[in-house]
Amino acid sequence: MPGAISLGIGEPDFTPPEHVLEAAKRAIDEGKTKYTPSNGIPELREALARKYQREYGLSYNPESEVLVTVGATEAVALALLSFVNPSDEVLIPDPGFVCYAPAVKIAGGVPVSIPLFEDDDFKPDIESVTSLVTRKSRVIIVNSPNNPTGTVLTHDELAKLRRLAVENDLIVVSDEVYEKIIYDSTKHLSLATFPGMRERTIVVNSFSKTYAMTGFRVGFSVGPEELISAMLLIHQFTVASVEGPAQYAATAALEGSQDFVSDMVSEFDKRRLLVHKRLGEIEKFRCSLPKGAFYAFPNIGDFNMTSADVSERIFREAKVIVTPGSAFGKRGEGFLRLSYATSYDKINGAMDRLEKVASESPPF
Ligand SMILES: Cc1ncc(COP(=O)(O)O)c(C=O)c1O
Repeated sequence: MPGAISLGIGEPDFTPPEHVLEAAKRAIDEGKTKYTPSNGIPELREALARKYQREYGLSYNPESEVLVTVGATEAVALALLSFVNPSDEVLIPDPGFVCYAPAVKIAGGVPVSIPLFEDDDFKPDIESVTSLVTRKSRVIIVNSPNNPTGTVLTHDELAKLRRLAVENDLIVVSDEVYEKIIYDSTKHLSLATFPGMRERTIVVNSFSKTYAMTGFRVGFSVGPEELISAMLLIHQFTVASVEGPAQYAATAALEGSQDFVSDMVSEFDKRRLLVHKRLGEIEKFRCSLPKGAFYAFPNIGDFNMTSADVSERIFREAKVIVTPGSAFGKRGEGFLRLSYATSYDKINGAMDRLEKVASESPPF
């Protein structure tokens, strides 16, 4: 729709820093256009191993415990294809990232939703999660900061998930793609750093969000050799390897100045406060302040319409694109996801439109 403002897609509106783009161009100019090692170029694997040592005190062998993938999307799929046998159950957050349930099904598994409620700040209630565990439970997916709710799990909450995983011998797939997009001086914690977790956790991460490199398609996993080697087998015979110049760009992103990341996150923070304030002023939208990622997840229950219908009407009448909460699972119904990974002015413009349409009689 011409003139529509999109708060739909979860993609930073920034261009990666110049030294990252230069590294990709240089790789092409230097003829680095051939197949790369299946598990990733050594420079990148070594830089990733250094990152985990430096930032989390975790030691991963770059030869056997780091795998470069086509985005975090491939890493999630590989983990599930590797660890899930037919009819095994995989616990996934609901609402949660759209790829989880389909990826579980592709792997022949059964997705089991962990219901997350607004009243609990969309944090898992450990007793109800425990009640979902059966003999067939194999993997639990944890995503903090969370898409679509923006929830960030604390040390205590992660410690409870740790106990659950250890007691029930679950493999944890910890999707940490928003590790750096976190506000109010909150520190991101990785489940892999908790006692006994390194050996049962696959950390999934990506360059897409942190460095605004969505189109480069570079993600990665770190984890114990036993798990990474299983993922590598599938990776090797499905995608063979990740594009070379993109991996050089990713290496430059990790090794160069991190000012880009902090500048981008402070800009997201301004937008976060803006969206939260403006939504709070519009009748029928109830929204808590997100703690991480770049999404607002307002409650639209007062409309007495499905989130798909509300999104459709917002699209037609306000020319603003939002995502219905139901796209993220059954528990997402009654909510909308608004991505604030777009400019401050566009967000303000979108809020003006929403406000206008909501004030018309009858609203929507
Ligand atoms: C929680 C989460 N995980 C994984 C991804 C996939 O990211 P990519 O494949 O671009 O690395 C996304 C993208 O939106 C996401 O929100």
